[in-house]
Amino acid sequence: MFKANGDYLKLRGSYLFSTVARKQEEYRKAHPDKELIRLSIGDVTQPLAPAIIEALHKAVDEMADPETFKGYAPDLGYSFLREAAAENDYKARGCDISPDEIFISDGAKGDCGNIQEIFSKDSKIAVCDPVYPVYVDTNVMAGRTGTFDEVNGLWSDVIYMPCTKENDFMPELPKEVPDVIYLCFPNNPTGGVISKERLQEWVDYANKNGSVIIYDAAYEAYISNPAVPHSIYECEGARTCAIEIHSFSKNAGFTGVRLGYTVVPKDLKSGDVLLHSLWARRHGTKYNGAPYIIQRAGEAVYSEEGKKQLKEQVAYYMKNAACILKGVREAGFEAFGGVDAPYIWMKTPDNMTSWDFFDLLLDKANVVGTPGSGFGPSGEHYFRLTAFGSYENTVRAIERIKAM
Ligand SMILES: Cc1ncc(COP(=O)(O)O)c(C=O)c1O
Repeated sequence: MFKANGDYLKLRGSYLFSTVARKQEEYRKAHPDKELIRLSIGDVTQPLAPAIIEALHKAVDEMADPETFKGYAPDLGYSFLREAAAENDYKARGCDISPDEIFISDGAKGDCGNIQEIFSKDSKIAVCDPVYPVYVDTNVMAGRTGTFDEVNGLWSDVIYMPCTKENDFMPELPKEVPDVIYLCFPNNPTGGVISKERLQEWVDYANKNGSVIIYDAAYEAYISNPAVPHSIYECEGARTCAIEIHSFSKNAGFTGVRLGYTVVPKDLKSGDVLLHSLWARRHGTKYNGAPYIIQRAGEAVYSEEGKKQLKEQVAYYMKNAACILKGVREAGFEAFGGVDAPYIWMKTPDNMTSWDFFDLLLDKANVVGTPGSGFGPSGEHYFRLTAFGSYENTVRAIERIKAM
């Protein structure tokens, strides 16, 4: 008789976005005359930039010609894309990463979830609280997190690093040394960023203690402050302790197109074992590559035209972020993030629970946001708004919040 994987059965229900959607739907049915504005999901709304559309069309035409048709992509991805990423995302920032340390994938979520496979089952992980849920859930699936405490909402074998306004949303170096540390900056959901000095402390800590840092840089394109690092490899010594994950979803609007990459430096070793070899083996065995057409679209992200157009696209969303941040502050809320990140993290008024505030905002302003408690216990009494809507809707949402 077959048995289901018991570790999957330990997963907590993914209530957050389904509950948001259900409550939104119930409200819509009960109030058909009200128009809701959604500032809840982290999905882009602007169309792909012209340079990317052009590259897609060209690559599609290549697939129609026997001379230029492409089948399976090379294991690590096409060199034109790996070279463009190495040049623009690393060399241009003074980081020493070579194209053959870059593994192209169909997005950051898969890589964030799959990377844990190359670590031993008894590895202890550390995560920020609140956190992008994929890091924890994929370790639950792998049987690495122990038991869940219904009272405090925490897993027994996970090291949590609370990020609240008291510590400026910056995780503190854990006293108990983790094997694998997940960091994400600019952060989802808090919108916080880390300075190069602070990130260097993490790199030094990881090197000293033999930990590895999984650095999720999905939102690096939103950084405008020159003192904020775009890559962990801007820190000295990161090649021996860090893996970095990139997405094309938020910098180039690829949420539905799908493209990302992971960097595993060849200096990153467990004894004599190169993690690069393990990830290469995993990639080669379980994955057959992002489509040629999409990798060409990714190459266009790094073209002069592409860069110019995407800078405008990011600026469009960041105008929304500025509008939300200013607006909610004028409305009397305490709010954070939104400067080098497309997320605004608000404190709920009068210590209201995140879900009570969700209901209040839905009812009084007809605006949908995301309750902070859905990202972890330290997200309770916080609320996330995103800058990914249209400018017009963002302005209207803020007017409504001010009028509440
Ligand atoms: C922190 C973080 N990492 C990764 C992802 C997933 O990115 P992708 O669309 O490339 O899978 C997201 C998506 O929202 C995210 O917020």
